[in-house]
Amino acid sequence: MRRKVIAGNWKMNMLPNETINFIEQFAPLVKDTKNEVILCVPFTDLFYALLHVQGTNIKIGAQNMHWEEKGAYTGEVSAQMLKSIGTEYVIIGHSERRQYFAETDETVNKKIKSALAVGLKPIVCVGETLEQRENGKTEEIVTNQVEKAFNNLKAEDLKNIIIAYEPIWAIGTGKTATKEEANETIAQIRKKVAEMYGQNDANEIIIQYGGSVKASNAKELFEMSDIDGGLVGGASLKPDEFSKIVNFDK
Ligand code: 13P
Repeated sequence: MRRKVIAGNWKMNMLPNETINFIEQFAPLVKDTKNEVILCVPFTDLFYALLHVQGTNIKIGAQNMHWEEKGAYTGEVSAQMLKSIGTEYVIIGHSERRQYFAETDETVNKKIKSALAVGLKPIVCVGETLEQRENGKTEEIVTNQVEKAFNNLKAEDLKNIIIAYEPIWAIGTGKTATKEEANETIAQIRKKVAEMYGQNDANEIIIQYGGSVKASNAKELFEMSDIDGGLVGGASLKPDEFSKIVNFDK
């Protein structure tokens, strides 16, 4: 059976002292879970977060990276830089980056390859707009995003990749996809992975749901057959609320 992976995406929130306070409160609340727990924090919090999660079951991720190894790319951070301080995961292709920072399926693919090359595990985001869903295009959009993101990846890479299905209309809006909608689209993504790599690999890959996940809806979502946990924005900023999401099965 696939494990459940619950990741927080703090986006552009939290200063170092807030990060340390968060971890001090949060770590004891999730220490007994069998679910995987990840905090994806801003670059400036990474080092503090990594120090303060030592000896806990919490893993740390970044929210973006550049695909080049090094060079004249002012303001950018490489996969190796993230890995060198102990970062384990990196979010790639979040819809906010696609929307505001010109992220494309091609740059997503390049970033995934660079991350994997240094042993950093990508959390790859896909999702449709409201207009696309209303026009019946959801499956086409998300499977196309997966196909392009995974271009030239090997089957053995899949065990180090998480997919996060995040319908854009559900992000930060308080509007969650119903558990049936989320499960159906995630099953379609899994079917696409099966077409590309075979059923065994498709059965193994972790696919999360993201978009207005809260303590009050986590259980019904994460208990669905194809939903392997969540990528949580706003509700991951409060230790108590986020711990309830992680402990949805308690
Ligand atoms: P919210 O949980 O705030 O809707 O954000 C979801 C998200 O974008 C996580 O990456």
